[in-house]
Amino acid sequence: MRRARRIAAAVLAMLGALALCPAAQAEQGVPIDIPSILPPEGWSFVGPFGRWDQAQLRRGFQVYSETCAGCHSLQHVAYRNLTALGIGFGPEDIKALAASSKLEDGPDENGKMFKRPALPADRIVPPYPNKEAARAANKGMLPPDLSLIVKARKGGRAFLFDFLTGYAKPPAGFELRRGMYFNTAVHGEQTGMAPPLAPDLVVFEDGTEASVEQMATDVTAFLTWTADPHLELRKKLGLKVVIFLALLTIMFIALKREVWAHLHHPRRAV
Ligand code: HEC
Repeated sequence: MRRARRIAAAVLAMLGALALCPAAQAEQGVPIDIPSILPPEGWSFVGPFGRWDQAQLRRGFQVYSETCAGCHSLQHVAYRNLTALGIGFGPEDIKALAASSKLEDGPDENGKMFKRPALPADRIVPPYPNKEAARAANKGMLPPDLSLIVKARKGGRAFLFDFLTGYAKPPAGFELRRGMYFNTAVHGEQTGMAPPLAPDLVVFEDGTEASVEQMATDVTAFLTWTADPHLELRKKLGLKVVIFLALLTIMFIALKREVWAHLHHPRRAV
């Protein structure tokens, strides 16, 4: 009896540890959370009960659209992904958002390519028609697509945040190559990307102050979402599975005790 209780306690402790273990959340290829100092209140989507903060994701999308989108594509995200299940835009907002960008389509019946407004099913229209054009406009450097950047860089979102806030004056004697900017977050401490953020560069509708840290935090949250849009769903499912397994364990222990009780008292056996 006491042994059964001890086994039950051990199994429950193991399941609990599994649910809370950060390694259990890190899937293949996804960097394990590296705690970044900011934001001070922590990321809402970290931990076994993590959820997206849709207001933050929308602010992040605004930062992407108004600054990063001038140079970086987001080729794995379609306008219709930005719905209530994603970052909370309504169908009408999405139609209007898509229609505000034009893309090349075709050929038409005369074999000509033509421009048309984007539709909700289209991917977010990239700033350049091809990589060569992107390089030509950026001193020969290619601004990478940002859809999966949080998974593609060591350090994940902590790197992205540190990169966006890592610009500073180079120390005396530092050799900055031509057209490069000093940034403490990257290898060699110089990057070809000019500092994209400055205080009050955007005006947030919800009144949040647009400091560089705030914009960097919000766009990092948004790009974490584009790289892993099903995170919240997966966490909810994981929690349900853990609760289910815990209940199943308790039921099996009770069943085992019922079966073995007769073996300990052979005279009562049927
Ligand atoms: C004026 C064009 C421009 C804007 C605006 C811009 N970038 Fe970049 N970005 C670049 C270029 C060019 C590179 C490649 C730099 C290099 O190779 O050194 C780059 C590189 C990057 C990288 C990869 C860095 C690395 O070393 O791995 C990230 C991440 C990034 N940008 C994020 C952003 C975000 C987020 C924004 C918006 C807040 C933004 N960028 C705005 C031009 C831009």
